[in-house]
Amino acid sequence: MTILYSTLANVYHEMYQHIFDYDKEFDFYDSLLKKNDCHMILEVGCGSGMLARRFINNEYDYMGLDLYYEMLEIACSEVRSGCFFQGDMRKLEFDRQFDAVLITGRSIAYVTDNRGIMDTLEGVHKALKDNGLFVFGVFEANAIFDNFDDFEQTIELNNKIVRRLSRMEKNLSTGWTYDWYAKYIIEEGNSTTEFDDVTTLRAFTRDEIRLFLKLSNFALKEIIEEGKAFTLVAKKS
Ligand SMILES: C[S@@+](CC[C@H](N)C(=O)[O-])C[C@H]1O[C@@H](n2cnc3c(N)ncnc32)[C@H](O)[C@@H]1O
Repeated sequence: MTILYSTLANVYHEMYQHIFDYDKEFDFYDSLLKKNDCHMILEVGCGSGMLARRFINNEYDYMGLDLYYEMLEIACSEVRSGCFFQGDMRKLEFDRQFDAVLITGRSIAYVTDNRGIMDTLEGVHKALKDNGLFVFGVFEANAIFDNFDDFEQTIELNNKIVRRLSRMEKNLSTGWTYDWYAKYIIEEGNSTTEFDDVTTLRAFTRDEIRLFLKLSNFALKEIIEEGKAFTLVAKKS
């Protein structure tokens, strides 16, 4: 079980604002939502609320869901007018329906078995209005499994330096799964703290994801390529 969204939630929150372009990410979703006339949205895997703030500032009727309380605590303090819920994407249940459901930040990578993927997609289907829009990104299996080189990131924040040393290993136990071993070295003033993290992630081939969508009654509209990942745009059918 990863500690990135619990023990290291604050580190994630600070770090990803430097390594991730949330404005660009928001613009991407915003144009899809506008094109499809979607106003009431659910963001699954909302994390620390970095997109939530942008959706709310742009007048969307927004609800965010995440598994980790530590991430949601940050989201609630960052976006005071936000509507956030703790929950597992494999067990979505709502008493209302949305124009669109977005699983952001490729969070579905944390659901590693077929049953979990089907449960997630079926829950999204129920949460959507007829003809509702479903958008989610996944890691692409061919690209991920092509290169397991170690990599290192150094991020200089206001008052600390975070170094992350990453190593990937094939796992393959429940699909195109792989283990991500990460060492975090955090220097703050004169002190250095280290954390070891390991988590299993899942990548998908395009055919696999097409089949999952078909089995859960979604009509695939578009696949948007993005380096080692791709985003699926589908409609409830
Ligand atoms: C890579 S982060 C993305 C967070 C946010 N969307 C962002 O872009 O900063 C993945 C998120 O998925 C959440 N997550 C992992 N497994 C989950 C599950 N089963 N149900 C709901 N959220 C989950 C984590 O807590 C984390 O916030």
